[in-house]
Amino acid sequence: MNSSKVRQSENLPCSFVIFGATGDLASNKLLPALFHLEVASRLGEGLTIVAFSRRDWTLDSWREYLRSVLANKVKAKLEGPVFERFLARFRYHRGDINDVESYRALAANLPPEPACSRTVFYLAIKPADFAVVIKNLEAVGLNQPRGMNRVVIEKPFGEDLESAQVLNRLLHQYLDEEQVYRIDHFLGKETVQNLLVFRFANTLIEPLWNRNFIDHVQITVAESIGIEKRAGYYDRAGALRDMLQNHLMQLMTVVAMEPPVALEADALRDEKVKVLRSIRPIAKRAVHAHAVRAQYTFGNIDGQAVAGYQQEENVEINSLTETFVAAKFYIDNWRWRGVPFYLRTGKRLTKQTSLIAIRFKHPPQQLFRETPLEFIEPNWVLLSIQPEQSMHLEIHVKQPGLDMDTRVMQMNASFLKTDEQALDAYETLLLDVIEGDRSLFIRFDEVEWAWRVVDPILKHWLVEREFIPTYSAGSWGPTEANRLFDNDDQTWRNEL
Ligand code: BG6
Repeated sequence: MNSSKVRQSENLPCSFVIFGATGDLASNKLLPALFHLEVASRLGEGLTIVAFSRRDWTLDSWREYLRSVLANKVKAKLEGPVFERFLARFRYHRGDINDVESYRALAANLPPEPACSRTVFYLAIKPADFAVVIKNLEAVGLNQPRGMNRVVIEKPFGEDLESAQVLNRLLHQYLDEEQVYRIDHFLGKETVQNLLVFRFANTLIEPLWNRNFIDHVQITVAESIGIEKRAGYYDRAGALRDMLQNHLMQLMTVVAMEPPVALEADALRDEKVKVLRSIRPIAKRAVHAHAVRAQYTFGNIDGQAVAGYQQEENVEINSLTETFVAAKFYIDNWRWRGVPFYLRTGKRLTKQTSLIAIRFKHPPQQLFRETPLEFIEPNWVLLSIQPEQSMHLEIHVKQPGLDMDTRVMQMNASFLKTDEQALDAYETLLLDVIEGDRSLFIRFDEVEWAWRVVDPILKHWLVEREFIPTYSAGSWGPTEANRLFDNDDQTWRNEL
């Protein structure tokens, strides 16, 4: 959370190495975000970016590639001194992540100490390759100086509780915890950070933020995209591991946490862990009542016919991987006991929208029962994460006129002024890595507790191998997702 910190340039890294530089994550997120930081003059003068990849390329071919990637992703001009400065930061390192010699050559090419004593290694690679990179970094001494060089690890961290613990032990064998940055890019999204401000900078909100006033909470991350070219990873992972165990549960912790004692990494993370630890464990026999999975079949999105999951390239025949998951959790603490948190996410849904929707309780007395109003819908607070970044408060007002009738008004707070540009979450998080702020990165106990919560669901699905419900691409998901609701008057809130 790069805000008012005093920047100490001697502590800043001077090399930023991207493993998997020609992969999807780098092209979709990292390279555009680094360029945005360049445009905003937030990259230190001495920072070199090293693109590490197996492709037999030269620096010139890398630069050409970089230009083509950015052309599709950024609005700023790809010419002039800023762009030239950005291009000049790069080095291209041809290497194989499995071959220790590639790391030796990398080490020899990094700027020497004492001129440069910190390097960031970003593992933009598939999770199965994390271990080999960490071991090879250690083999050539690039994990040193301990506490200085930083390693950024993408999610999912492990594929269940046990594998996450194994991965963590391996990390700690070679690195100190303060060198490890477990990234969950949803924490870098503007609305999510704004949620902290909304909750803890407004005395208006916090007194209402509990089981006395809130009926339930919904967190939806809907995507209209399919699995793109990621079947190799996705078909093993599924929506629960890819999105719910990390992104959605992190959003839930920010909605539900107590105010931290300070805006510091560990204080924030302590509160998030308390939420995760308070989630009521899901018993084996209760999995069906708490979780729904489904897979998309062919359908239509924005007038375009799209293939079903089974027809996507490289998906296993008869794969039972879920592309949609919805789950219900209870947080058994003083603030939240009895308030259901409904989480859902899916690919190939009607449209891209990520929304935190908080529904308040009905007024205790239906005072307007005898009027044309009869029944008043409860209030909602809606926090839109994307595509819009905004906050809406829905309240009732009387319609002007002779009758006692109301309408719902939305009080809207768009976070962006017209002249401000929305940034992706990665800008914030990359800057945090560079500046050494771990507040928005995940501590291992958070990962561990999140796995503990979802492990029973995963285990149950592993034995239920005969059937998976389906939904048409372009819909809002399977009707089965409605069975999670505790009350008849609860329904999914799809849009603002
Ligand atoms: C990634 C998931 O972590 O988040 C993808 O692996 C998903 O499957 C993506 O599409 C969504 O993030 P964003 O920021 O593009 O909404």
